[in-house]
Amino acid sequence: MSWVFKQSLWALLGSIALMLLAHAQDQSGFISIDCGLEQSPGYTERITGIYYISDSSLTDTGDSKSISLDYRDQFTRPFWFLRSFPRGTRNCYSISLTGGAKYLIRASFVYGNYDSQKGNLPEFELHLGATLWDSVAFSNASSITIKELLHTPAQNHIHICLVNIGTGVPFISAIELRPLPTASYPTQMPKQSLALLLRYDVGQTANTAGYR
Ligand SMILES: *[C@@H]1O[C@H](CO)[C@@H](O)[C@H](O)[C@H]1NC(C)=O
Repeated sequence: MSWVFKQSLWALLGSIALMLLAHAQDQSGFISIDCGLEQSPGYTERITGIYYISDSSLTDTGDSKSISLDYRDQFTRPFWFLRSFPRGTRNCYSISLTGGAKYLIRASFVYGNYDSQKGNLPEFELHLGATLWDSVAFSNASSITIKELLHTPAQNHIHICLVNIGTGVPFISAIELRPLPTASYPTQMPKQSLALLLRYDVGQTANTAGYR
């Protein structure tokens, strides 16, 4: 290799490294919660570089559970643990954020036979505060169910609630909040939320980087 070529190669590698570094650190305002995670403080997910925290300080109910080992390899780490809510009809998370800012809120669910009842998949409701956000159901034990919403909270916190409707124990795998520029999605007004009906990336399996 010529000296010039080596120099350019190093310069190129250097700028790639810088880009990766900038990317890895650009998580300001991100809130990424691994529901059911017992470890504190948290961990950096290997593929996305996203830092996940435990949900233990955000809800005072529910039980930490893990999906069956048979399913683990198919999913990234945030899906290994979940929190299930066998007691009470309505169980909520209280999450602090910046009131008046626009957020993408994403709730994810992987059943993974965590309670060994895979013949009887649960169905339940997801609420944002007092408002029904969506129903949560599963195709099978290894399917991922993702619910996303664009929302501008009026206050400095939101409540995300799981509601038992008599068809199985509610649970949740992960909650992710991403602040968005205020000018994005102008159809979304402060007093209403916009549910995402279609999305380009439903992945977040072990093979794809998924959404950041
Ligand atoms: C589970 O459901 C998903 C989504 O409908 C489907 O893509 C997948 O093939 C199913 N897996 C099994 C093991 O049936």
